[in-house]
Amino acid sequence: MTNPSTAATAVETDEVLRVTDLRTTYQFRGLPVPAVKRFSLSVKPGEIVGLVGESGSGKSTALKSILGMLRPPAQVEAEEIILTGRDLRSLSEEEMRKVRGGEMAMIFQDPINSFNPSWTIGSQFRRVLSLHRPDLERKEYDEEILRLLKGVGIDGRGKLNSYPFQFSQGQLQRIMIAVACASKELKVLLADEPTTSLDVTIEAQVLELLRTLRVERNLSMVLVTHDLSVVAEMCDKVVVMYAGQVVEVADVFNLFESPQHPYTQQLLQAIPGFPHDGERLYAMRGAVPGLATEIQGCWFADRCDSKLGSICDTTPPPLYPVTATGGLAACHRVPDPAIAGGEGKNS
Ligand SMILES: Nc1ncnc2c1ncn2[C@@H]1O[C@H](COP(=O)(O)OP(=O)(O)OP(=O)(O)O)[C@@H](O)[C@H]1O
Ligand SMILES: [Mg+2]
Repeated sequence: MTNPSTAATAVETDEVLRVTDLRTTYQFRGLPVPAVKRFSLSVKPGEIVGLVGESGSGKSTALKSILGMLRPPAQVEAEEIILTGRDLRSLSEEEMRKVRGGEMAMIFQDPINSFNPSWTIGSQFRRVLSLHRPDLERKEYDEEILRLLKGVGIDGRGKLNSYPFQFSQGQLQRIMIAVACASKELKVLLADEPTTSLDVTIEAQVLELLRTLRVERNLSMVLVTHDLSVVAEMCDKVVVMYAGQVVEVADVFNLFESPQHPYTQQLLQAIPGFPHDGERLYAMRGAVPGLATEIQGCWFADRCDSKLGSICDTTPPPLYPVTATGGLAACHRVPDPAIAGGEGKNS
């Protein structure tokens, strides 16, 4: 059931999407794989939130869980997943189908896999319009498709009967964005590495397109990327994940200027040319622990260069508020500003 008090708060605090304590567990060979263990997210209208973390940290899983795309044996639990004041956990599958591609849509890294290879682009697009555009009559569909394609820089005339393989990766990514934007109700776009498979010129164009959509439609986005320069260029706020958990939340300036979590600090040191050109590129030692491992304390303790002491091995750090920046960081150093951010700081 929707909790009226939390729904009211969502409106009051001007959030378009709020996720609290999301947990997702897969099953692999009969064993549970807790891929997301502690994930919360808050997105305001028109805000672009970056989601970063190394491969396997649970970024895609978190987004798919929010959109209700995972099926048993995967299990998704959350305290709340509130989209424009409605808790999605209370919706039926039928209602969720309307939300997906309606108020919230997702685009993926590999556009070719998002289309059915044996259907023309026109027929796939028409199907989406039939689901999400009750304001249109069937005979108006093609005109609307051409308009939507024009909006992403594609002249679709004469191309609606073409198959996905007849388009380039960059064109398909634009078409996928046009499909995602077909609904007039779209509020949140979940973009899972939307430019990773594109060359730099096309990547720049797609990022520009996303920025334009944000301005023109006041769209909010959650943008997963491995590229911190994309974060710097695109995002207002950043959520950093490690081993299925959120370890830091910061606005983009503070993330780069004064990263609080040692994992974030190490991520930044791994960027070529950061902090000082000419220094050796930092390679993070060790590896992420197996997701099914029992860990008492901080999940990053084994790889941490600035451990505080035994507390790091015995007590899981909560997301502490960072007074100086208004962010959050799951590191026991944070409550004491004299030591938090002192070592490994990149400024
Ligand atoms: N269907 C599945 N069944 C079992 N485990 C899975 C499944 N899908 C993902 N996982 C595991 O869940 C963890 C999180 O995966 P996920 O794809 O969400 O990570 P990610 O952060 O998106 O990584 P990447 O940056 O490589 O895309 C990984 O350890 C992955 O192996
Ligand atoms: Mg992923």
